[in-house]
Amino acid sequence: MKNRLLIALTALALSASSAFCADEPKTELGEKMTAISTAFRAIGRQAADATKNADTLAKIASMKTALEASSHLKPATTADKPAAEQAAYVAKFQSEIKAMIALVGKLEEAIKGGHNDAAAKIIDEVKAEQSKDHKEFRKQAAK
Ligand code: HEM
Repeated sequence: MKNRLLIALTALALSASSAFCADEPKTELGEKMTAISTAFRAIGRQAADATKNADTLAKIASMKTALEASSHLKPATTADKPAAEQAAYVAKFQSEIKAMIALVGKLEEAIKGGHNDAAAKIIDEVKAEQSKDHKEFRKQAAK
């Protein structure tokens, strides 16, 4: 009985989430973020492995390119801000993206220098920054 309830609830949750996605097509910034995320996950998996440094550096480069492109876009949440605050909000977003590019540059330098052992700490810093920036700029899921 418990299991059936669980299955029913899971099915409901899945259909609700796909309906939500259908209503909200990915933004241009969302597309860039997806590319950043794909590259970053791979980097996280292989950064400790020095035999993969050439590929890790290629993925870091693609992360930087997508971050650069993101810096010319606006978060969707800009529209929720009062008109008088929007310019400052977008400027702050751009400066945080630049800070992330700098951090990813630090990761690049570590890998280039063969300091694979230092990469894990920088990756943790990237994750902490990402989480802080998402809290500030990304639409929060309804509670
Ligand atoms: C390692 C760094 C980052 C990763 C892996 C990442 C990943 C993601 C992912 C997976 C999404 C959802 C995309 C979608 O399906 O629509 C997203 C959305 C978003 N991210 Fe990031 N992100 C990173 C850094 C940042 C930074 C530095 C900022 C801002 C300074 C930021 C701001 C946003 C915003 C605003 C959205 C919502 C898209 C929109 O408003 O159109 N992210 N991010």
